[in-house]
Amino acid sequence: MAHLLTLVALYFLSVSQTVLGSPCIAFDANWNLYALGLNGKDYNASTQDKWTGGNMATDFTAAGRPPFDGPNTTCYLSQFQNAIYVMNGDTQNPNSIYMYDATALTWSQQATTPGGIDVGSSTCILDHDTNVGYCLAAGEMWFLNLQSLKAAQSEPIAWTDVGPAPYGPNYNPVMALADNHIYFIDVPNVPAGSMDIFVIHYSFFQPQPQEYPLPSGTIPATHGKTASLFQPTSVCPFDHLFFSSCF
Ligand SMILES: *[C@@H]1O[C@H](CO)[C@@H](O)[C@H](O)[C@H]1NC(C)=O
Ligand SMILES: *[C@@H]1O[C@H](CO)[C@@H](O)[C@H](O)[C@H]1NC(C)=O
Repeated sequence: MAHLLTLVALYFLSVSQTVLGSPCIAFDANWNLYALGLNGKDYNASTQDKWTGGNMATDFTAAGRPPFDGPNTTCYLSQFQNAIYVMNGDTQNPNSIYMYDATALTWSQQATTPGGIDVGSSTCILDHDTNVGYCLAAGEMWFLNLQSLKAAQSEPIAWTDVGPAPYGPNYNPVMALADNHIYFIDVPNVPAGSMDIFVIHYSFFQPQPQEYPLPSGTIPATHGKTASLFQPTSVCPFDHLFFSSCF
């Protein structure tokens, strides 16, 4: 596990030392694991079979990357493009999405036109199948169509206002991704074991929560963060990880 442990140690060292910037972790489509923005550098821990044997994560910091100087940086794998998108990685350019093409090994900076969304305080998922990002900010849902981009196009991409989510402006979003659905965890008055759902294809907030019995444990009704892990075959179901805010 030395390789992974190196990466994890670097990650927590960075998280505990860095007040201003926040690093993020992402896989590429070939299951190489990356830690981006660790004290000014990006690291490649390679695939899981390389996490043993004393290998060190390699530094692949390259030109054109975001400075990773913002507090709310998040990263998303666009599996079909083998690209990693970085949001809120550059405080000077809060409306830019940085794209890392994990095949060409190049960074580029995509401009967006916010049209009212405060990107910096939004919580987002990237829909796996359509490559459209959905964000909740101050109770309002927005989307950004990233098409098939693995590198920036010259035209800015405009955010589209979907409308208010039914959870109120004080809901601190916890969003997870499913095939054609967005799950909302810790919605007010929704008990543990259930989640609310947005159906992407119909742009529809299902009015009733959905109960999801698990083989072990329960879907929490607490604030946290999620990670949705895709299957190698690119089909559902995904695996979901939930990290409590206390972590
Ligand atoms: C990360 O490492 C793997 C295996 O060594 C390599 O195939 C991949 O291209 C590397 N990724 C980057 C971005 O350098
Ligand atoms: C970061 O996110 C939190 C929670 O959404 C928000 O309160 C804060 O304003 C954000 N920071 C910036 C700089 O936007």
